[in-house]
Amino acid sequence: MSNKIRVAVVFGGRSGEHEVSIVSAKNIIEAMDPKKYDVIPVGITKEGKWLSGDGAIESFQKGDYSGLTEVVLNAKSGAHELLHLDEKTYEKIHVDIFFPVLHGPFGEDGTIQGLFEMANVPYTGCGVLASSVGMDKLMTKAVWEEAGLPIIPYIGINKRAWEENPQEVMRRIENELDYPVFVKPANMGSSVGVSKVKNTKQLQEAMEEACSFDHRILVEKGLEIRELECAVLGNDNPKTAHVGEVLVGGEFYDYNDKYIDGKSRTQVPADISRHLEQQVQNMALRAYKVLDCCGLARVDVFYDRKTKDLHLNEINTMPGFTTISMYPKMWSKSGIAYEKLIDRIIQLGFEQHAKKNEKKVSYERAGNWFK
Ligand SMILES: Nc1ncnc2c1ncn2[C@@H]1O[C@H](COP(=O)(O)OP(=O)(O)O)[C@@H](O)[C@H]1O
Ligand SMILES: [Mg+2]
Repeated sequence: MSNKIRVAVVFGGRSGEHEVSIVSAKNIIEAMDPKKYDVIPVGITKEGKWLSGDGAIESFQKGDYSGLTEVVLNAKSGAHELLHLDEKTYEKIHVDIFFPVLHGPFGEDGTIQGLFEMANVPYTGCGVLASSVGMDKLMTKAVWEEAGLPIIPYIGINKRAWEENPQEVMRRIENELDYPVFVKPANMGSSVGVSKVKNTKQLQEAMEEACSFDHRILVEKGLEIRELECAVLGNDNPKTAHVGEVLVGGEFYDYNDKYIDGKSRTQVPADISRHLEQQVQNMALRAYKVLDCCGLARVDVFYDRKTKDLHLNEINTMPGFTTISMYPKMWSKSGIAYEKLIDRIIQLGFEQHAKKNEKKVSYERAGNWFK
């Protein structure tokens, strides 16, 4: 048997960030050293079908899946395999580690991580808890606030409360927060469903819009900000890269800006003092640790231009990973090139798996004491 590491790179998926994920996975696979890795591309269609085969990336880009075959993950603990199913039989495909490159719901939110845990197979990135809490902006804020980390003042609203009495909800928002405010669905990314709101009429429209994406909504005080981003990498002893900045072109960093007309620019390292950079890095590390992250995450921090305070905005446990994305860019400016970063993420996945299994062994030993 070859001594290469078999990596199943999982991409696409059922979220709105399907296309971005394909580009991230394409770049990752191209950068993986074929002398070290044997790559199995596994694409998940928007309907949730898992497909594999040569040229899977190109097939997903074209939306033509005809040359691909369906695979399923064997969820039996320790099986380490995908099963390629035929009508009457199946073929086993051994996998050493899974590398999910999925953004948003059904990928970055703990669901696929739960599947890998059931199968007890190594995988890269954060585990179930950090992924699911990190995906939900209200939960993330609750945990950060409890840990004494600075967050932006906000109100959490349930869709049902909104539908039952919108006037009452709007009164509460207007009493507790001043315009402008930001309205966001708790569980989206890419600025989908996010609105900047300056008056009552816009508030109503923004709430309707956000409720069409999620049943948990947050309304946040709008600040005049500089948008800083910090890349974190590691398990027990995570490290940060140089902080980067998004220089936003329009009113705010919206979907258009991110993917369509791209008026925003990014700058790495950000043009900030060394002292401010260290403050952002320390805050990002604490934010990462309290959520029990491992592997990698990108922590987004707002610098308030008026008060000069820092506030945590959000965490992305599977940040964009194309060769021009912020996360890899921040590492390459800090001495870890794209290829090396992938090696390190895979290594961290194996280490995390080994640690969990060691813990299981000690639990088994402890179990004997109670017999
Ligand atoms: N409280 C706020 N004050 C000022 N701008 C904000 C605020 N919240 C969000 N924004 C703007 O909206 C963008 C998207 O919001 P964000 O919470 O990062 O959602 P997403 O997960 O979709 O990226 C931010 O990058 C920023 O430009
Ligand atoms: Mg964001």
